[in-house]
Amino acid sequence: MTADDVSAGRKLFSGPVNFLRSAPSLEFLPDPDAPEIAFAGRSNVGKSSLLNALVNRNGLARTSNTPGRTQELNFFDVGDPPVFRLVDMPGYGFAKAPPDVVRRWRYLINDFLRGRQALKRAMLLVDTRHGLKDVDRDVMKMLDEAAVGYHVVLTKADKVKASELAEVQDKVATEARKHPAAHPLMITTSSEKGMGIEELRAAVLTAINPLPLAGEDDSA
Ligand code: GTP
Ligand code: MG
Repeated sequence: MTADDVSAGRKLFSGPVNFLRSAPSLEFLPDPDAPEIAFAGRSNVGKSSLLNALVNRNGLARTSNTPGRTQELNFFDVGDPPVFRLVDMPGYGFAKAPPDVVRRWRYLINDFLRGRQALKRAMLLVDTRHGLKDVDRDVMKMLDEAAVGYHVVLTKADKVKASELAEVQDKVATEARKHPAAHPLMITTSSEKGMGIEELRAAVLTAINPLPLAGEDDSA
């Protein structure tokens, strides 16, 4: 990334961001007319919080202490007209929800992740305190099979000690390397402390390339 890219990216993330719509099922998806980046992960891992941190707007995507807050696919347009779209997803692996709800969410999440043409990359969020769980592995395998690229993103890094963080990073990265669709760059974040947010922004910009970035055509 050049300095121009970095400043164009910063402008984009601090410019207009608008809620587009909620899709409780696939027939309510918006037209696939902008590239999309989806935030997936277990319930309560911090998807909505990280989306808010990325665009620097508190309360844009609704967050909660109670798992199961986000129940639909929520689409947010970044840029006006939209340059790309962020998709906040319901969490998977929420054991306390009624079984039919769990099943409905699982279908919604899986069908979206593996069948959405406009989806450029998924961010697969993993709580630093918990590391990878079998539900995460299932989703990773599904993304591998669908050839949908994803970044593993560690969340809530502020909640662990530095030594523990290093250990989890090592363990998760080692396992992620065995997954063909996992991007080699794993990103460690804390929405609370603003850690890893610039890196995540850069990863989003790279994923939605080519971008009409300022200065791109001025170099000749
Ligand atoms: P669902 O929509 O229910 O699947 O949850 P989610 O993955 O969207 O999680 P959400 O962003 O709602 O955050 C869950 C809880 O974790 C909230 O109480 C957040 O304040 C908290 N949280 C999120 N990110 C961080 C973080 O980086 N550090 C700390 N300490 N807490 C965080
Ligand atoms: Mg949420």
